[in-house]
Amino acid sequence: MQILVLNGPNLNLLGHREPEIYGYETLEDIEALLRRRGEDLGGIELNFIQSNHEGELIDAIHAHREWDGIVLNGAALTHSSMALADAISATRIPTVEVHLSNVHARPETWRHNSYLSPVCWGVVMGFGYRSYLAALDLLYSRLSEEQQG
Ligand code: DQA
Repeated sequence: MQILVLNGPNLNLLGHREPEIYGYETLEDIEALLRRRGEDLGGIELNFIQSNHEGELIDAIHAHREWDGIVLNGAALTHSSMALADAISATRIPTVEVHLSNVHARPETWRHNSYLSPVCWGVVMGFGYRSYLAALDLLYSRLSEEQQG
């Protein structure tokens, strides 16, 4: 089972960036937690990509179009990128949209819309780094059921 963990703009600054909102864990910390969870679940190959550039995120999705699932934190592109949404639709890869914060509880109304949610399998938000772990568990559960037929 191959799962891509894709992170968008500014998430390379996690741990330093508004930690009261996003937490004190760095992206490397979160990746290590996911790697460990993947090992516990077993049979999972993970690839981690972070980019601050919309086109690079789209290219990454295309490059993984034969993969089984995506854990995606599109960051601010969630609220603006129709192209990222189209990449998910085009490849039909089951994708879980992830956010560290509960974007609906944030004061900026522009965060309340997601172009990604309509094309994702589901959304996990508001649980800090745990959102990523839950997304991995959920994808694993779905994909193992599908593989067992
Ligand atoms: C975020 C929420 C977005 O609104 C914001 O632009 C981010 C991070 C989150 O994980 O809570 O960069 O996706």
